[in-house]
Amino acid sequence: MLHNVLLTGASGYLGGSLLARLAAADLPPYDKLYALIRSKNQAQAVRQCSNATPLTCDVKDEAAIHETIIGNEITVVLFLIDASSSVSQTHMIKALADVKAKTGKDVHFIHTSGAKLFSSHAGAPTDRALFDDEQGLHEIHKQQKAAIPAAHPAVQANVTIIELAESLGVYAYVFVPCIVYGEGEGFGNRISIQTVAICRAAQALRRVYSVDEGRPTWPVCHITDNTNLYLSLLRGMLSGSGPPPPHGRNGYYLAASGAVTWLDLYAAVARALTKRGVVDDDTIEPATPEVLKKMAAALGCPEEMVALQLGGW
Ligand SMILES: NC(=O)c1ccc[n+]([C@@H]2O[C@H](COP(=O)([O-])OP(=O)(O)OC[C@H]3O[C@@H](n4cnc5c(N)ncnc54)[C@H](OP(=O)(O)O)[C@@H]3O)[C@@H](O)[C@H]2O)c1
Repeated sequence: MLHNVLLTGASGYLGGSLLARLAAADLPPYDKLYALIRSKNQAQAVRQCSNATPLTCDVKDEAAIHETIIGNEITVVLFLIDASSSVSQTHMIKALADVKAKTGKDVHFIHTSGAKLFSSHAGAPTDRALFDDEQGLHEIHKQQKAAIPAAHPAVQANVTIIELAESLGVYAYVFVPCIVYGEGEGFGNRISIQTVAICRAAQALRRVYSVDEGRPTWPVCHITDNTNLYLSLLRGMLSGSGPPPPHGRNGYYLAASGAVTWLDLYAAVARALTKRGVVDDDTIEPATPEVLKKMAAALGCPEEMVALQLGGW
């Protein structure tokens, strides 16, 4: 009863790095590995650099997803595309449940979320470090009231995924990357989306500005450690013996190997941008309301979303 695995986001920073290490990883045997892509060039790259079969499918189209997952008898889906909604994931989980009904095989779904949803921005507890083995984390997450309304649908996406999967007998996992750093190893995007906002705002204003009071910290993880955590979860799913990795309400994986103070991160960026002549000097200044407006314009987002992109605790 070997598994067929579908990796999405294969051209992305996280998904590409995972694809790059999958073939050489010490995994239990599986049947086919499919990589979801969107162009002919990406399909060619997948064939050249991995053991995966490229596959295209509109992830918002329920019928297309159903056909793809059932047709290829996919039993494991790694979703690394979109943390903000659960539309595609819902379609995929339902299709996995149908594969289970048809084949009797265990089916698994990993959703990739983000640390912002377990932070001050999204109404998570900030009086203590939150760990993924905290009792009742799912209920805590479910009761969060996001300070920034735009964060709410993404919190809701995690809850929906866990509860829908549970009701359909699909093993679900919510993988929560933080600030992932280091050069990616995939064929597509090799730059983490996380620190780009600091650079873009600084480039537009010719200075790095801080957006929080005090010295808040944020969890960090090197891309190799992040990839290895995906691989160990996958190893647990593919192993025919023993129970699956903790899943459902106990299936949150807060993937951090340490923490960084935002001010230290800003200082490092400011030094690097000063050397390149992108900012005037490496002094960090607190953002005034006027500066926040300009940062929002540079990032193409409302003012209240600026701190969500480059600060928080
Ligand atoms: N990087 C981090 O540090 C970090 C931290 C926390 C959370 N996350 C979350 O993890 C997920 C992956 O992040 P990433 O850093 O790998 O982002 P990324 O480099 O921008 O990659 C996104 C991937 O999703 C694919 N994609 C987007 N829309 C799609 C669609 N409609 N159909 C099929 N594929 C689609 C992209 O394909 P194309 O190449 O064709 O556009 C690309 O492969 C995101 O949800 C992100 O919010 C990332």
